[in-house]
Amino acid sequence: MIRFIKGDITKITDVDAIVNAANRTLLGGGGVDGAIHRAAGKGLRVECFKLHGCKTGNAKITKGYNLPCKYVIHTVGPIYSGAESDETDLYNCYYNSLLLAKENDVHSIAFPGISTGVYGYPKEAAAKTALNAINTWLSDNSDYDIKVTKVNFSQNDYEVYQ
Ligand code: AR6
Repeated sequence: MIRFIKGDITKITDVDAIVNAANRTLLGGGGVDGAIHRAAGKGLRVECFKLHGCKTGNAKITKGYNLPCKYVIHTVGPIYSGAESDETDLYNCYYNSLLLAKENDVHSIAFPGISTGVYGYPKEAAAKTALNAINTWLSDNSDYDIKVTKVNFSQNDYEVYQ
C-alpha cells in the first residue's frame, strides 16, 4: 500500500527511514538533499564521507542523526537526458532503496520525488516509473510488511500523483 502526502520529508515523524535524492558524491547539495543534511546535522555528512559516493540507480544507508527517522537511504537519480537508461536508472533508485530498507528491517519508508527537481526528469513520466517500481517491489516482496509514503513537496507534485 502506498500513502500520498503533501509536505516536507524532513518533518515526517512516523517512518523508520526517509529517502534522499542525492548526487554521486553523497556529500550534500541543494533541494531535498540540502534540507535533509541541514535537518540531520553534521554527523550525517561525516558518515556520508565514509561511503565514497554512490552510483546512479544505487542506494546506500546511513543513520538519521537529528532527523525523527532512524535511517536515511541515499539514492542517486539520473540527470534527465531523454535516453532510455533514464527510466531504468530511476526505476532502480526506488527498487534498490526498498531492497536496502528490507535488509535493514525498515517497515516504513518515505520517498521524495527523485530526479524531478534539479535533475530535470519530467514529473508525469517520473511518477509512472516510481509507482511501477514501488508496486513491482511490493508484489515481489509480498511476504514483507512495509508502509510506503510518497511525499510531495508542492501542490503540483501532489496533483501529478493523484
Ligand atoms: N521534502 C520533500 N520533497 C522535497 C523537499 C523536501 N524538503 N525539497 C525538495 N523536494 P531535487 P533531484 C522535492 O532537486 O532532481 C541536489 O542538489 C522537489 O520538489 O531535490 O534528484 C542533489 O545534491 C522535487 O520534486 O533532487 C543533487 O545534486 C524532488 O524533491 C540534485 O539536487 C527532487 O528534487 C538531485 O536532483
